[in-house]
Amino acid sequence: MPRIAQETVEQVAAASDIVAVITSYFPLKRAGTEFRAICPFHQEKTPSFFVNPSKQSYYCHGCGAGGAVFQFLMQYENIDFPEAVRRLASRAGIAIIEDELSPEEESKQSLRKRLLRLHFEAAAWFHHNLLRTKAAARARDYLKSRSINIETAKRWQIGYAPRTWDSFLHWATAAGFVKEELVESGLVKLREQGNPRSRICDRFRDRLMFPIHNDFGEVIAFSGRILDPKEPSAKYLNSPETPLFRKGNLLFGLHQSKRFIANARRAIILEGQLDLITTFEAGIQNVVAPQGTAITARHATLLRRFADEVILFFDADAAGQKAAERALEVLFGAGLQVRIGEMPAGEDPDSLIRKSGSETFRARVESAEDFFDFQVDRSLSPAESKTTAGRVAFARKMARFISMVPDLVLRDTLISRLAVRLTIARETLLQMVHSSAKQSQDRTLVEEVVTSQVSMPRHDLALICKAALILPDFLYVVRQQPWQSILNHMAGAELLSKIFASSLEPGEPASIAAFFASLSKEEAAILSLLLANKELNEQMGHLFWKQLASAELQRRRRQIETALRLADNTAIQQQANEELKEILDLESWFTDISRLPSRAP
Ligand code: GTP
Ligand code: MN
Repeated sequence: MPRIAQETVEQVAAASDIVAVITSYFPLKRAGTEFRAICPFHQEKTPSFFVNPSKQSYYCHGCGAGGAVFQFLMQYENIDFPEAVRRLASRAGIAIIEDELSPEEESKQSLRKRLLRLHFEAAAWFHHNLLRTKAAARARDYLKSRSINIETAKRWQIGYAPRTWDSFLHWATAAGFVKEELVESGLVKLREQGNPRSRICDRFRDRLMFPIHNDFGEVIAFSGRILDPKEPSAKYLNSPETPLFRKGNLLFGLHQSKRFIANARRAIILEGQLDLITTFEAGIQNVVAPQGTAITARHATLLRRFADEVILFFDADAAGQKAAERALEVLFGAGLQVRIGEMPAGEDPDSLIRKSGSETFRARVESAEDFFDFQVDRSLSPAESKTTAGRVAFARKMARFISMVPDLVLRDTLISRLAVRLTIARETLLQMVHSSAKQSQDRTLVEEVVTSQVSMPRHDLALICKAALILPDFLYVVRQQPWQSILNHMAGAELLSKIFASSLEPGEPASIAAFFASLSKEEAAILSLLLANKELNEQMGHLFWKQLASAELQRRRRQIETALRLADNTAIQQQANEELKEILDLESWFTDISRLPSRAP
């Protein structure tokens, strides 16, 4: 990712008055030359959060939080520095100049802007249709039948897409949007898929429209629900994946709920957007819903920014249980604790709240059990629990989940607790967890390296990387030497150069963490793989072998190509050509990704 230019940062800072920015989140009261408020970063009754306009900074006397406008955004929105700059820039209408922005990236950014504009205006148009047009009478009746009142419809900017084939198209064209943008947005579709010259029509017709926002509050997609249950097409229709919308990145409702989630450090995960709206409106506001997909790792990291714990409310049916189980791996993996909420058969949070009131649902939230207790209570059968073999088999299943928990202290607690509950030796369970953890760690690391663009440095360089990471004295001595002159022109030595050039101090966890943070995901995966394995393992053997082979083939190819250029008789030429052919064959053999060994067992 390109770096944001320093001038841009300064320009954004100059254009972002800290009082105005913070006031857009919560009210400030004047106090002499400063402003004050209840601190958003800790629990308190009397305000000790101060904002100083002349210093353009904030400080909390209660919890010590403080900084300039960027730090406020980073802390409040749980985002990193570049993201904070980007958001403030977009707020101030400043175009972000990123260093080394290619023309391609530039046009991508301007398309993004146009699409955001389109979604913003489209949401308003759909909403206006719902509230004001005659054609939407049935849609308004439908809302009423689901007890959604006008305030709710306004808060979620619910809308209506008319029944015709081209109402939206006409509106959007009149509003100045062109065919390419409209198709790219997914709000309009080509009548003949894949043929860009074909005629176009509205994607959403006669549907109740729910705008989908990113966590920053920008509309980036829509979900449309049919009004008539007898309608043969899909109940919900979502925007397709677009440059703005990636389903796997998106949690419906998060832009409204993140403050409540951050306050409670806990998120309730529901299945549907109407469940979310009803629950939120009923005063249970720390809720999110994946947008019609399974929970992804990206969802989990997003949630981890705000919460320590999630409560899963999935349908009681088999599909819901499957979805919950798949979600566990990514949730645990992100360091979230998981509780399982139970619903009465045949109900979802929306129907339950309508039928029995919000307190009934709230009680279910409160009584949601920790995942591990839930499993022992619900899925360990009496027969299984009677025999040692049954309990060990169950323990092995649980060990897999425990091994996904990254926090070692928590892992340890879980192991002790479960060992007691299953009356098996703590050591036995510990062993199971270790072997399960090792397997999955190797698997994911190797997978990341194999699928990444960056390749593992060849074996000698890899070993030196590893030595530099774990042997402080080695690194210290090499850094005194003219190592740049050696590595500067060496292919594949970029990662090693980075290590030598860094301020990394081997053995210092904080310094290692900081160094890792400066690497790309692929580079970090490679180094983790090197560090994680004391011995070379089979996968690494294959990677090194493949790289050795392709380096050797490249060398021979260059040699022959030179020979060919210099050859002065046809016999030599012919021989060289044949050799070249053989090398090309070999090359394609070794570079064929499918020949890489499949995942570790
Ligand atoms: P209502 O029937 O309006 O109360 O919705 P629901 O949320 O109770 O529906 P359901 O439990 O069947 O589905 C849960 C979520 O899955 C929905 O909110 C949608 O996001 C998604 N979903 C349901 N049906 C469809 C469909 O036909 N197509 C797609 N793409 N998503 C669907
Ligand atoms: Mn429902």
